[in-house]
Amino acid sequence: MTAHANAGANGRYAQITGWGSCVPDKVLTNEALASIVDTTDEWIVSRTGIRERHVVAGERETTATLAARAGRDALLVAGLPPAELDLVIVATATPEYAFPSTASLIQDALGASSAGAFDLSAGCSGFIYGLSMASAAVQSGSADHVLVIGAETLSRITDWTDRNTCVLFGDGAGAVIVSACTERCGVLATELGSDGSGGDLLILPAGGSRRPASLETVSNGGHYLKMNGREVFRFATTVMPRAAESVTRKAGWEIADVSLVIPHQANVRIIESAAKRLNVPLDRFFVNVDRYGNTSAASIPIALTEAVAQGRLHPGDKLVLVGFGAGLTWAGAAVEWGMPPPATTRTSLRRFLARLGILLAGNRSWLRQSERHVYNWIMGPVGKEDWRGRLRQRVDAWRDRTRRRLAGRK
Ligand code: UT7
Repeated sequence: MTAHANAGANGRYAQITGWGSCVPDKVLTNEALASIVDTTDEWIVSRTGIRERHVVAGERETTATLAARAGRDALLVAGLPPAELDLVIVATATPEYAFPSTASLIQDALGASSAGAFDLSAGCSGFIYGLSMASAAVQSGSADHVLVIGAETLSRITDWTDRNTCVLFGDGAGAVIVSACTERCGVLATELGSDGSGGDLLILPAGGSRRPASLETVSNGGHYLKMNGREVFRFATTVMPRAAESVTRKAGWEIADVSLVIPHQANVRIIESAAKRLNVPLDRFFVNVDRYGNTSAASIPIALTEAVAQGRLHPGDKLVLVGFGAGLTWAGAAVEWGMPPPATTRTSLRRFLARLGILLAGNRSWLRQSERHVYNWIMGPVGKEDWRGRLRQRVDAWRDRTRRRLAGRK
């Protein structure tokens, strides 16, 4: 399926203007894993390329806390006050809750008071799906600034006795800001695909509406992810090069013009196979799976943030992002890296405002909750016909009028 290749149709392009990532401090090495399951550092490195991964420690580190830190850094790089965000998209397979969405929690944590928010489930392809939605919204003019986050705490759904899966995954979050611009750059084409017939190959069997949590699902390990590694491997080595080629063509590029490919970081052998099939030298693929393992929807934005930090992206560079994952799904994006805006006093001021907005977000959230409590305490339960009920009706009508007046003024 083509998501879109109509960048610039409105004279609007969708540029990546901010980026950030966050991984937990705790590092789990292959040696440490070998002391809890029947595996070896040699097996893990030779079959996957992974040497260590980061995992959350304790209840205070969650998908939302990692996502909020990555999102905050992306806002600071972009110099974007959070109130200017129009949309927050969080791609995750390990959301904080089934609902509310993790994206709504991030919207609140960052003080993105004017933004809509939703979670997106497309497995490890989720970040590129989010980037595609964000760039379409920006190019169509329905949004000016969108925060896209890929965030996971896969260690929470990992069966630490299953050596087939537990050596592969890690936790982390990465984020980008997608903003409108008028120069031709940014997300020029995307490609999204799905083959649901392979849904059972990578699955979290219980905890959804089909098999709600019960004593039986817990004792059968239904809340741990299950994977047919060989089948997913075969699927990945076919779709990765295909998606990369297709999105490159849609952007009007040749594969030889691509300066850097940032693939989903699942297994270095999958990346090597894609490089070979595309006939692109491996040094044009960004690889950091050795230090993070597979962080699912977070892997591409974490890698992107590292690529920028290592100076591997320059204005005008042609960048391809490509991923695959549960669903089964796959996705690609062709991005022309934009010009960094010149640093001015205005940029510093906007960075300061971004920092202030994020700092005040906690107070804003607390005030909103307190206001709700005080209101309900004074007004009593809904539907009462006494003086409190009449007061509630008046206050509600006054609020509605004020909101409409403010909306009319915008
Ligand atoms: O983001 C998308 C998510 N998933 C993926 O991308 C995963 C894609 N698949 C893969 O990366 C690979 O298939 C794996 C890394 C999961 C497995 O590598 P493989 O080369 O396909 O190994 P295999 O599954 O064919 O297993 C080979 C052997 C088996 O033993 P037998 O049956 O040949 O005696 C496994 O039991 O390796 C054994 N094995 C292990 N041995 C030591 C499996 N896991 C381990 C382990 N340590 N951790």
